[in-house]
Amino acid sequence: MIILVTGGGSGIGLELSRQLVACGNTVIICGRDPDRLAEAARLTGAQAIAGDVTLAADQDRILSDIQAEHGRLDLLINNAGIFLAYDFKSDTDTLRKIESEIAINATAPLTLTWRALPLLEKSARPAVLFIGSGVAFVASPGTPIYSGTKALIHHCAQTLRHQLRPHGITIFEAMPPVVDTDMAKALKSDNFKKMKPADLVRDILKGLRRDQTELLLGQSRQIRLLSRIAPAFLFRQFAKTEFH
Ligand SMILES: NC(=O)c1ccc[n+]([C@@H]2O[C@H](COP(=O)([O-])OP(=O)(O)OC[C@H]3O[C@@H](n4cnc5c(N)ncnc54)[C@H](OP(=O)(O)O)[C@@H]3O)[C@@H](O)[C@H]2O)c1
Repeated sequence: MIILVTGGGSGIGLELSRQLVACGNTVIICGRDPDRLAEAARLTGAQAIAGDVTLAADQDRILSDIQAEHGRLDLLINNAGIFLAYDFKSDTDTLRKIESEIAINATAPLTLTWRALPLLEKSARPAVLFIGSGVAFVASPGTPIYSGTKALIHHCAQTLRHQLRPHGITIFEAMPPVVDTDMAKALKSDNFKKMKPADLVRDILKGLRRDQTELLLGQSRQIRLLSRIAPAFLFRQFAKTEFH
């Protein structure tokens, strides 16, 4: 399969490309830092195309490189993301943080998916995987915007699944719990254990092979259940999370 992993230079994206290449797939990774990306490509055997997924010109260039070299795309994995913990009122950079977190986590996965449709339609079995989060089901008090972006992706994954199914395109969404990557380095709480990226990706790939379109991983299953039966309790537990 020809697979594009956004944010493939580190963390979950790096592990996705490692395991997908090991299964015999051709994996293309993108990210903003060209050095980190080149090192990830060397480690995993993926192909690197540096680019910022929030920029239309970079999205077009990444997709036209794939078109020129491979002629199709079988799986788009929208994984790139940022996680910003700050105080909405007192932070000195709130406006920029609001815009960049929504642009990277919410707008880019959707605009890239739209731009990739013609390439995906050249595949015999096209699919898109959104890397969401268990916090799609709970507002996470220390991060004013992040959980909202993942809730948006959760809703959009459901609507796109419905709209694109008649066109033969399958939409998957994976909702990880807290995972032991750079993104979660500062997170501390007695309420969760960080999942290892290798275990997370093994479970995601198992779910994809079984055609499970909504993948609740690790503690995300409990988060969804608690969001339905005890939402105030769940919110209070998340409010105890420390960021340092
Ligand atoms: N770690 C967790 O606890 C956790 C839990 C649930 C869900 N997730 C989700 O899993 C995904 C991956 O997170 P992670 O933990 O692996 O974080 P990570 O290690 O910080 O990796 C994020 C990657 O995204 C790339 N990226 C960020 N902005 C980008 C942009 N504008 N264009 C292209 N690439 C960009 C980064 O590379 P550059 O900076 O070089 O661009 C980086 O390689 C995210 O969507 C995150 O929300 C993470």
